[in-house]
Amino acid sequence: MSLGIPYPEVEDLALSRDYIDKIFCKSCEYMDELPDGSVALTVTSPPYWNAIDYDRHVQDARQNYRTRSYSVGYQGYDEYLDWLKNIADEIFRVTKPGGFMALVIGTVLLDRKHYPVPFDVVSLLAGYAGQTRCGFQEPGGKACAGADGKVAAGSGKLSPADDLSLAGEPGCDGGSSCASRSSWEFHQDIIWHKVTGGVKRAGVFLQHPYPGYYYPNIMTEYILVFRKPGPPIYKGRSDAEKQSARVDTQKLFTNETANTVWHIAPVPPGYIEHPCPFPEEIPYRLIELYSYPGDLVLDPFCGSGQTLKVARHLGRRFVGYDINQKYVSLALDRLDEPLAVRREQLTAVFEKIPFDCSGAETTRTEKGSSEGQGEAPKK
Ligand SMILES: C[S@@+](CC[C@H](N)C(=O)[O-])C[C@H]1O[C@@H](n2cnc3c(N)ncnc32)[C@H](O)[C@@H]1O
Repeated sequence: MSLGIPYPEVEDLALSRDYIDKIFCKSCEYMDELPDGSVALTVTSPPYWNAIDYDRHVQDARQNYRTRSYSVGYQGYDEYLDWLKNIADEIFRVTKPGGFMALVIGTVLLDRKHYPVPFDVVSLLAGYAGQTRCGFQEPGGKACAGADGKVAAGSGKLSPADDLSLAGEPGCDGGSSCASRSSWEFHQDIIWHKVTGGVKRAGVFLQHPYPGYYYPNIMTEYILVFRKPGPPIYKGRSDAEKQSARVDTQKLFTNETANTVWHIAPVPPGYIEHPCPFPEEIPYRLIELYSYPGDLVLDPFCGSGQTLKVARHLGRRFVGYDINQKYVSLALDRLDEPLAVRREQLTAVFEKIPFDCSGAETTRTEKGSSEGQGEAPKK
């Protein structure tokens, strides 16, 4: 069913009805339903190691499902990272050359230790240590074979956009030594500032305002965007296709989306019967920015179905996976509900605060007289 935006015919998309617009209740470790190179974009948020016991939440949402012992497929932190790497490999397989994967992921606190999950994930999936970047095109046209093994013929001249998306290291010959033949490229990190919610910890410092007691409130997660080596996704698109995917570049873009910090309030507690849905604004922006109408969008950990629902509304095809039947049913039920993307979005407005070592509380907003504000502290 189309919701305003006409879907291109399935036959024209080289996709099969066996898997498009479906949600599979099974682990995404093996997405056998999906052929190689069928997915244009993945938008997902994997389980944050052991932060939430989904099975317990499914049985009774009133129980304490925030746990430190959840383990389906992994136990220790290293095992969790290996598990995630295997799934990222499977997503890589099903992704088109040039396609994207966006992971929404945060750090994890456990037993007074702070685990840098996003940083470990980047280094595991796209670390540069000892790797050769892919997509290198030597002057004269010899191209590095992409992950699909196909070599794109080239003029040897790179446009600025090609430069950004295709350039690799000189010396990459596309042979078996080209490590990136089968690995993600790190494309972009975006900080999701939750603005109104987060893990409150700063109270300790208010009680003990001395060096060493500082534990800031955790108000952010990371949106990590990876790219499978291959041609830019706009290459070969007709003008009509580009027009159908045109993104609004008015105030929300220039004040907010254009920057690497996105200000988006979390879904209010109890609003959706899932312990950790991300807000629809996140897949909305990512799907608009990294795919075209008719493309297949995957969420391998689809939970309440936020990505799939938004994909459908934006005229993209979708496919999802979740191991819990209750969440699969929830996601299916929510597909045709109206979007909950906020009609009024948040952007940051900065306030200049005089720096005063004595702690005097004097603040003035940017709109007031700015004379003398923001000056270096007078000691
Ligand atoms: C962080 S939540 C995703 C929430 C989702 N982004 C949303 O907005 O509702 C992770 C989801 O992954 C599911 N899950 C855990 N292990 C899985 C696996 N091996 N395969 C597929 N889904 C899995 C859980 O049931 C949970 O719904």
